[in-house]
Amino acid sequence: MKVTIINGSPRKNGSTFKILKFFKESLEIAFSGINIEFFNLIDFNIKYCIGCQNCYRTGKCVFLEDGIEEIHDIIKNSNAIIFGSPTYASNVSGLYKSFHDRIHITMEHLLYKKPCINITTYENAMGNKTLGIMKEMVMNAGGYNVGSIAIKNTFNKDPLSDKNKIKIKKLALKLIHRIQINKHPMISKIYSKIAINIFLKPFVYKNKENNQGIINSWKELKIIENTPAPDKR
Ligand SMILES: Cc1cc2nc3c(=O)[nH]c(=O)nc-3n(C[C@H](O)[C@H](O)[C@H](O)COP(=O)(O)O)c2cc1C
Repeated sequence: MKVTIINGSPRKNGSTFKILKFFKESLEIAFSGINIEFFNLIDFNIKYCIGCQNCYRTGKCVFLEDGIEEIHDIIKNSNAIIFGSPTYASNVSGLYKSFHDRIHITMEHLLYKKPCINITTYENAMGNKTLGIMKEMVMNAGGYNVGSIAIKNTFNKDPLSDKNKIKIKKLALKLIHRIQINKHPMISKIYSKIAINIFLKPFVYKNKENNQGIINSWKELKIIENTPAPDKR
């Protein structure tokens, strides 16, 4: 069982990190032998997406030196992903958004059928708005949300209250269970079908040569087999 944790906080030992670290420990207790990769995005010198569409064409980003392509491939081979970002200015952190722009997971539907968890920490307001944005990012990439938590906490104070620890432990157990039953929930199936057939396919097949990387990803994920391309109907 392979799980990836992404920390989008620029503060390496901040509240988001502490929550995600406790999540990791809870998973390790819940399922011995679990293989967890934990990435602090601040450790990577992430370049901004320049909109060149090389990933659409080839499935690879033009920037290969900053390590983001490796995370892309690790996510592809994971059973589940846990995303964490602090709430900054009523949204995800800039670091998290830059990562999301670079990881080219939406068009590829890289999270297809993957159970995901979203976590944000905030101090005052808009934590749920951030969570909504994170959940939408997951759904738009084909994944489904097993659960999510917005943790309200005073800046620089330890967020690991007993109440929060219980919430995290429960969610860790729920995630393990979802990985084990390995069943794509109906709501996510329908969402992906609509996203692919109504929005993504017509756009991608309009210019096949420019979107071969996306088409290859769909084939690998067995998205295309079930739903033929619009021009072949
Ligand atoms: C630049 C910045 C913007 C913030 N914006 C918000 C906000 O809009 N709403 C809020 O409740 N807290 C806001 N906060 C507080 C953080 O969300 C909160 O302290 C969070 O737990 C910090 O997580 P971290 O330690 O992982 O960075 C902001 C903090 C910073 C530094």
